[in-house]
Amino acid sequence: MKSASREVEARKGYFGTFGGSYVPEQLQPRLDELEAAFESAKGDELFGKEFAGLLKDYVGRPSALTHCANVSREYGGGRLFLKREDLNHTGAHKINNTIGQALLAKRMGKDRIIAETGAGMHGTATATVAALMGMKCTVYMGEEDVRRQAPNVARMKVMGAEVVPVTHGQRTLKEAVDAALDAYVADPGTFYMLGSVVGPHPFPSIVRHFQSVIGKEAREQFLEREGRLPDHVLACVGGGSNAMGIFSGFLEDGDVKLIGVEPAGRGLDTKDHAATLSVGKPGVIHGFRSYVLTDDDGEPAPVYSIAAGLDYPGVGPEHAYLLESGRASYVSVTDKEALDAFSVLCRLEGIIPALESSHALAHALKILPLLSKDETVLVNLSGRGDKDLDTILPLLAL
Ligand SMILES: Cc1ncc(COP(=O)(O)O)c(C=O)c1O
Repeated sequence: MKSASREVEARKGYFGTFGGSYVPEQLQPRLDELEAAFESAKGDELFGKEFAGLLKDYVGRPSALTHCANVSREYGGGRLFLKREDLNHTGAHKINNTIGQALLAKRMGKDRIIAETGAGMHGTATATVAALMGMKCTVYMGEEDVRRQAPNVARMKVMGAEVVPVTHGQRTLKEAVDAALDAYVADPGTFYMLGSVVGPHPFPSIVRHFQSVIGKEAREQFLEREGRLPDHVLACVGGGSNAMGIFSGFLEDGDVKLIGVEPAGRGLDTKDHAATLSVGKPGVIHGFRSYVLTDDDGEPAPVYSIAAGLDYPGVGPEHAYLLESGRASYVSVTDKEALDAFSVLCRLEGIIPALESSHALAHALKILPLLSKDETVLVNLSGRGDKDLDTILPLLAL
């Protein structure tokens, strides 16, 4: 059987018909330079060792695999497991990618980093590695996200990063990516540390590579613990990096169902959602071809989710490919369902999940009762929820 990963390599930078590089001419040589540096780093044993060493000693990997006995008892049917990316240093999966990209920046002789951020977890992870490696760091963040993710803005600032609020448009993640891309084009001396599996080639492949540690660990840990693979692997999808990270470990295991969970916000029958693969159409955004949510003029539509890391009108090109090839399926859950799942995990397991991750959990809670006792669901718990408490407390009326 031809494997999914080998098929997607057929045309460089493309996953089926998705991906590619749709950028201003002057940017292409810099992306080519980045690709060459990445390919050489990937083949360099010392680079791999340095990356693995930092993941172990600085990030705290491997992250745990946790069986949620209480939720499983209450909702099962099936049994629920979590891959605990919330336990990483800085509290989310984003640090895996920023460690890798910072080493790449160093290898390329760059010491000025720019990044975009939505929930602030990628911005925090970027500020963290910049501090660690003595680099100058500027993070672009929509003004609305600066407001709703204040704890992360404070974390970035104390580590020495400059946070630039983006004040146009919806003032969320899309505008932050716009601003970071503009700054990247304007200044050839910068290294753009993209936070998800989006953007022009080679970014989706770079981010997937550094996040694939999640899937590798999860597969090994699950096999060791259960003697078999999980039946379902779930992850929330904003740009799609935590999902690609865990899915990549199971792509070739045809019996493992891969399910990406998108934000349905206030409902798919409203305009207030960001369910790109569920409702969008193929198109180009931020220099790559994928599914896109567009308005009547064909421009990226205003999008919404209670989770600041999920409200993006595009999605990683490999997810578009996995959808069309049928290897993964994509569903959506509302703000309300995500909030309910957040409370369930807090109260039954003593784990406070990020609002983003709560979307994947919410879908797990829907399918657990439908499964038999020997079936299992593995959720990638992409981050911890401390950053979201200001948003959540008034809604839970505690
Ligand atoms: C905790 C957490 N999970 C998920 C996401 C969504 O990003 P991605 O889809 O790239 O994993 C974010 C983005 O900020 C996040 O902070």
